Amino acid sequence: MIPTAPERPRSGDSDHPYRHDSTFHYLTGFDEPEAWLLLDASGRSTLLCREKNPERELWDGKRLGPEAAPSALGVDDACEVGRLASLLPERLADQPAVWFAFGMHAQLPALIDEALAKVRQRSRSGVACPEAERDLGPLLAEMRLHKDADELQTMRRAAQISAGAHARAMRYCAQRFRAHPQGSVREYEIEAELLHEFRRHGTQGPAYTSIVAAGANACVLHYAAADAELRAGELCLIDAGCELDGYASDVTRTFPADGRYTPAQRELYDIVAASQAAAIDATRPGARHRDAHHAAVRVLAQGMLDTGLLARDQVGDLDAVIESAAYRRFYMHGTGHWLGRDVHDVGLYLALDEPAAEESDGRGGRIVRRPSRRLEPGMVVTIEPGIYVRPGPDVPERYWNIGIRIEDDAVVTPSGCELLTRAVPVDADRIEALMREG
Ligand code: GLY
Ligand code: MN
Ligand code: MN
Repeated sequence: MIPTAPERPRSGDSDHPYRHDSTFHYLTGFDEPEAWLLLDASGRSTLLCREKNPERELWDGKRLGPEAAPSALGVDDACEVGRLASLLPERLADQPAVWFAFGMHAQLPALIDEALAKVRQRSRSGVACPEAERDLGPLLAEMRLHKDADELQTMRRAAQISAGAHARAMRYCAQRFRAHPQGSVREYEIEAELLHEFRRHGTQGPAYTSIVAAGANACVLHYAAADAELRAGELCLIDAGCELDGYASDVTRTFPADGRYTPAQRELYDIVAASQAAAIDATRPGARHRDAHHAAVRVLAQGMLDTGLLARDQVGDLDAVIESAAYRRFYMHGTGHWLGRDVHDVGLYLALDEPAAEESDGRGGRIVRRPSRRLEPGMVVTIEPGIYVRPGPDVPERYWNIGIRIEDDAVVTPSGCELLTRAVPVDADRIEALMREG
């Protein structure tokens, strides 16, 4: 049993814009609220959805309705969603188990319990009640993790539109500062450029809250676009991507407001770009998901030592910095995550089928460590290293308040990976050229 997402009230009698449940939409392609998919062991699929209702459709828009659902969606049959409570006990009778995603839908366990109670009431007439509840979540997550050709086509398009939006934002800033070199641009003005580009290409909008961070705001990892002023000489970090037909993209670029990196910005930028290149090299079939992070960390940590962000006499050499995780002061997040219908997509990160190693936690306890899983063609990951420098007495002042992240989306191919988001440049010279010429 797979329900879609509920509608969520915003205030008064207004709802948030409706967004389907990702897994439900993956299985059905249906994006109306109040809908369920029932699948049984014989392969039969039943959609429960809202009935047609001319009065409601006048206010809220068209409904597909159960009659049209089988031909429109390819389900075997469909009925009105109000029949759920009576249909469930019928469908669960004589089944060995009931499958649903554990811990995902708050009302679901109670509903299933009610249906099981009704099946049990019929046991005297020889009807068998399911003996087990099974977690459907991991199975469907595994399916979603491996993208097919159609899914990848949609993701390529989403990625390309997002890359175009980043290029547009860069050009917009360049034009503003060309016209008024001493002026400023507000974060929300840049955000508006992104939204314009997302919507004009027919995407549903941002896949997550857009980050547009002027200057020091880039050091706040989950900063949302607000009203701060971006000034010449500062960096602008944008982490924004559109959602297209249920699929997310996730892109970050960090560019100089007025089109020229300062020497200090350029030094750190080139380190982050080099660390991303190392992580991209480590993104290929057979490599472990975590390899990209380790590759990025090596380059970042070396850069921190070379620039004096980390003082060798305090933290030791590269291996010591990695061992002690001293680099985490300036790079505190992972280098990537699965990407798909959700921006942080479903799918296990650990290889549960490989032996785990136990080690001491240094406090008398034990930690079980599992290896990170191996990448396979069709998986999509982000690759997003960064450096974030908050002021501190032991930090060289020229780097204070510089926050840089570079993020691309990559699909694992049989021989390596394909970057989906390079319609906007990463190389610092190419970003400067785009801003000069755009
Ligand atoms: N935009 C969210 C992330 O990069 O993970
Ligand atoms: Mn991102
Ligand atoms: Mn990301």
